Amino acid sequence: MILNTELEHKGNAFPSNIIKYEKNLNVLSFTTENNVTLQVTVRRDSILRFRYTTTGIFENDFSYAITKYASRGYNHLEVTEDETHYTITTAKLICNISKTDLRISIYDAKDNSLICEDELGFHWEESYQYGGNVVKMSKVSQPGESFYGLGDKPVDNNLKGKRFENWVTDSYAYGRDTDPIYKTIPFYTALHNKKAYGVFFDNTFRSFFDFCHERRNITSFWAHGGEMNYYFIYGPEMSEVVANYTDLTGKPHAMPALWALGYHQCKWSYYPESNVKEITAKFRELQIPCDAIYLDIDYMEGFRCFTWSKEHFPDPKRMVKELADDGFKTIVIIDPGIKIDMDYSVFREGLEKDYFCKRADGPYMKGKVWPGECYFPDFTKPEVREWWSDLFKELIEDIGVKGVWNDMNEPAVMDVPGKSFPDDVRHDYDGNPCSHRKAHNVYGMQMARATYQGLKKFSYPLRPFVITRAAYSGTQRYTSSWTGDNVATWDHLTIANLQAQRMCMSGFSFIGSDIGGFAEQPNGELYARWIQLGIFHPFCRTHSSGDHGDQEPWAFGDTITDVVRKFIEIRYQLLPYLYTAFWRYVEEGIPILKSLVLYDQLDPQTHYRNDEFVVGEKLLVCPITAPNQKGRRMYFPIGKWYNFWTDEVVKGGQELWVDADLDSMPIFVKEGAIIPKYPIQQYVGEKTVEELTLDVYYKFGKETSQVYEDATDGYDYIKGRYSLRDFNLLGKKDELIIQQHKTGKFVTTYKTFKINLHGLPFKISKIEVDNVIIPIKNIKPNGDNTLTLTKEFTELHIMA
Ligand code: NOJ
Repeated sequence: MILNTELEHKGNAFPSNIIKYEKNLNVLSFTTENNVTLQVTVRRDSILRFRYTTTGIFENDFSYAITKYASRGYNHLEVTEDETHYTITTAKLICNISKTDLRISIYDAKDNSLICEDELGFHWEESYQYGGNVVKMSKVSQPGESFYGLGDKPVDNNLKGKRFENWVTDSYAYGRDTDPIYKTIPFYTALHNKKAYGVFFDNTFRSFFDFCHERRNITSFWAHGGEMNYYFIYGPEMSEVVANYTDLTGKPHAMPALWALGYHQCKWSYYPESNVKEITAKFRELQIPCDAIYLDIDYMEGFRCFTWSKEHFPDPKRMVKELADDGFKTIVIIDPGIKIDMDYSVFREGLEKDYFCKRADGPYMKGKVWPGECYFPDFTKPEVREWWSDLFKELIEDIGVKGVWNDMNEPAVMDVPGKSFPDDVRHDYDGNPCSHRKAHNVYGMQMARATYQGLKKFSYPLRPFVITRAAYSGTQRYTSSWTGDNVATWDHLTIANLQAQRMCMSGFSFIGSDIGGFAEQPNGELYARWIQLGIFHPFCRTHSSGDHGDQEPWAFGDTITDVVRKFIEIRYQLLPYLYTAFWRYVEEGIPILKSLVLYDQLDPQTHYRNDEFVVGEKLLVCPITAPNQKGRRMYFPIGKWYNFWTDEVVKGGQELWVDADLDSMPIFVKEGAIIPKYPIQQYVGEKTVEELTLDVYYKFGKETSQVYEDATDGYDYIKGRYSLRDFNLLGKKDELIIQQHKTGKFVTTYKTFKINLHGLPFKISKIEVDNVIIPIKNIKPNGDNTLTLTKEFTELHIMA
């Protein structure tokens, strides 16, 4: 039995003294007397990769997580040695390797401050049962160090004092501290002495992280097999650490279509067709914006993937078209389990082509899911992914389905120990054959990848939309995700907030929760409060198990319907703002949601905050997560913040009470921000945007804002057909200056901006646009602080 503790075990072995050193460009190897080799690869000045082998031979260097598009290259690399150490120096880091035991310590090259140091460092335990090693690493935790990340763990932001396991698991009605759940993202960011670094342990076996839990000042991580193989990513900014990790494991391959950032409605299940139509018609009737409607497993014939129930959906192509005509994109669920049925073509084909997973001694991996006994494609085989991707032709190209929802891809198996495949199941692992011990954590990722390949192919020239439940690091390249089967409780509203923030900090920003809760039923108040949080999540969908009643925006009476409508409308108005934040994520790996610590790591008050977060760069929100509240206390990061509802200005760096009745929530805007808004639409594209509203929040001083737009779908933006507006704002006592710099070849439909000025400390008496004085009556027809002016302006002066 392998112990799940890294230390107190007699079988631990350690490297001895270095007897050989080799340098091959940026790859440095150190071999010890007892045949341990450490390979250090300098990927960038701030990114070092550490790999260890105890046999003298490294495994084939293959990773599903690392993208071939990751940036490489460094400005400086020098290796020196003295009596006790080898020292690797880059432009950003100094890394010492002890000659006696391979222990590492890493310093900031600028000021020589210690960033991270090994305690025992690499050690291992041989695994007689499986072969290979249990590979282990322990590091000294620095005074005041905090830890963040690890994907979807349903716990407070700061991970200090806790231990976690990574093993992708179907976790119906998980709770706070349930571990592990659906995703494996073995990446954390640590922060101490104002500096942040990250560790990405790219090992797909069952792995563990311990943040000062087993021993007070020790951080350790270990895995049940594979290599000790981790990337050290230096900041010192936390946002740089996360952006660099995202660069390494991949940014989304494309922008999502703008409609994908709209509101989505889901339930297990809307069927038959008349029920789907009833729901979509009601959205339009009540004028609640909605872009997507989901079909859960009951749309199929006996839960056979890629089929339609003839009884409930006799003519899917017609239905999907009619829904599309009304602005709804149809999204359908596809699970990995393929029903054992010789009359079912997908099954027959999979069998004939030998695409299903097998047990170690040859039999198929047979397991029960919704359709009954199933076989499961081995998505870790390129040929199988190709086949799978082609299965989407009819759904997407012919029927017109716009998105696919991959569920149960942990893979989930019913009524068996471990709720998944047994360890002995064999996988191709892209030509590196292995057991399920190694492939389990990437199975769902590879399914989502194959689905994405299919959607990309058949949606072309439009952008694909995929959502997955299971994920490993790097899955963000292909798909969005949700946090799985949560519960309709107030605590789960808090958990949803934590999980979305944590996923964003873990490089995976396209994330949301089942709004209202999947299991059980929320009351109207909980549903309304959840919508308020949900509209600020990158992925915004109501979903429920349907067992306990309805969960549509109108299911809780008129008062709640009005609150829900009001907030979904705010999301639709903010679409250009959210799209811009998404673009920053796709371009630079900047998380869409920023926990306060990520927003301002220098302020120690942020290190343990959980509730407040920043959306994009300029909006600060804080959900109400308890019943019967008329407001709450929240912490304001340093700076000045405008109340979104009242324009009242709050000084940050303190905790304050904020009023928020049920029809409101704490939303604040950073001073100096320029927030773009679209008109309310019932779905993306319902209206031609005739005017872009810019809400300008006065600041004494400077601030920059951006607005990114493109055709909202398709790939022309990659060829330069986008519109990026950079705004520089400068506020003085008696003047506000806004400069605009536009790049990109996309021509937006609107010709004018409507500028709403907030917090202007003076009465306007003169306005100058590009050096021409404009009569105030021409530009301020309403006599208030709004102006209408051409989108082409380059410099605007508003003067007292
Ligand atoms: C489990 C998923 O998490 C849930 O969202 C879905 O509704 C059910 N499976 C049924 O497909």
